[in-house]
Amino acid sequence: MLSLVLTLDHRRLEGLIDELLANPNLSLYGVIWKAYKNHIYWEEEILFKRVTDTSLLAIIRGLETEHGSMWILLKQTEELLRSNEIEGAREKIREFMRVLLEHDGAEEGSIYQFLESLSDEEQARLILEDIALAEPPRDWKCHAIT
Ligand SMILES: [Fe+2]
Ligand SMILES: [Fe+2]
Repeated sequence: MLSLVLTLDHRRLEGLIDELLANPNLSLYGVIWKAYKNHIYWEEEILFKRVTDTSLLAIIRGLETEHGSMWILLKQTEELLRSNEIEGAREKIREFMRVLLEHDGAEEGSIYQFLESLSDEEQARLILEDIALAEPPRDWKCHAIT
């Protein structure tokens, strides 16, 4: 189950990147930055720490290095969008996507397989840790109040 949730989150981010490539703009960039940062926070601070198979530790180091490269590429994309250099931003987004697709495939074939081997309860707890970080829309109110 956990592997499926994470894999769907990969497809969600890749879909957003496709949209950004078709229409580079700062508002969509903001959605992507949040989605990316949330995903890698969950991985680095919660999920990777739960991996006890030592043969996967070198893979995790490599994945974290790629997180850093993608972080820098997204920040450069933001700068280009802010200075209205749309073609430059598109090139950066393409570069980001190339690293992302490779990265996502590597995770799905290694770490996510390990996480899937944990008990249902353990997987549910790891999903719950990410839910605890989620924020509802700022102006949302419960139905009885609105
Ligand atoms: Fe990752
Ligand atoms: Fe991931």
